[in-house]
Amino acid sequence: MSEEKGIALVTGGSGGIGAACCRALGESGFKVAIHYNRGKELAEKLSSEIPGSFLIQADISTVEGMDSIYDLLKKEHGGNIEVLVNNAGVALDNPIFNATLDEFQKTMDINLRSTWYLTKRLVRFMIRRRKGRVINISSVVGSAGNAAQSVYGMSKAAINNFTKSASKEFAQYGILVNSVAPGFIKTSMTETIPEEFAEIFMKAIPLERMGNPEEVAEMVQFLATKGSYCTGAVFHVNGGMYGG
Ligand SMILES: NC(=O)c1ccc[n+]([C@@H]2O[C@H](COP(=O)([O-])OP(=O)(O)OC[C@H]3O[C@@H](n4cnc5c(N)ncnc54)[C@H](OP(=O)(O)O)[C@@H]3O)[C@@H](O)[C@H]2O)c1
Repeated sequence: MSEEKGIALVTGGSGGIGAACCRALGESGFKVAIHYNRGKELAEKLSSEIPGSFLIQADISTVEGMDSIYDLLKKEHGGNIEVLVNNAGVALDNPIFNATLDEFQKTMDINLRSTWYLTKRLVRFMIRRRKGRVINISSVVGSAGNAAQSVYGMSKAAINNFTKSASKEFAQYGILVNSVAPGFIKTSMTETIPEEFAEIFMKAIPLERMGNPEEVAEMVQFLATKGSYCTGAVFHVNGGMYGG
């Protein structure tokens, strides 16, 4: 009989890519912890579709918010976490001359600091099990750069570097750490991109279409359930925009 799977926590489960990851991990038999911040209704609807899933609300731009995730998993679920998908993120696009210190801080706190801090805290639970997968959602922009996305790109490049260091520290405990770097994917994050920028992106995609959240989730599912010899890598899912 196969061993019962633990919890898979997806931060930003209320968003496009996060929701697809929650569905895929639910299908793979994990008990899915759907994290959200403001998207309560979306998260509740998603949870009603995934048997055994539960919700966690927290603003991960604050340390208190992140600590509340740790506390809830420990008190109510015995820290039985097997997969952490650091997916929540923001893209505050602005050319370098216009970008503000506030935008910089917010981007770094939500995208980067949360990835580092949640991993740092939650991997302790995985070490006890001598088993676990951490999957960090970065971006093609973290490798290739992009106009008006310098701050976002820096946060994602740093995530990829964190993936590499963490994979080296945690390999001894049987914990695998990888990044998944999506390209141009249909979610609320890309809905608001001005048409002239969207056209530039489209021209850079050899497959000539945007990706679907499910196509990113397939890679996350692979890294959560298979991929036993993969760690410290960045997996690109971008229709050929960038090969690494
Ligand atoms: N879409 C793309 O083309 C693309 C490409 C490359 C990489 N990515 C990356 O993929 C990830 C998911 O993006 P998406 O496209 O699915 O975007 P999305 O639909 O806008 O979802 C973003 C998610 O992040 C959460 N979030 C934002 N700020 C938060 C905060 N302060 N505290 C807690 N949660 C917060 C949101 O929660 P609430 O809505 O509940 O507040 C939401 O669930 C991001 O890391 C993004 O950078 C996306």
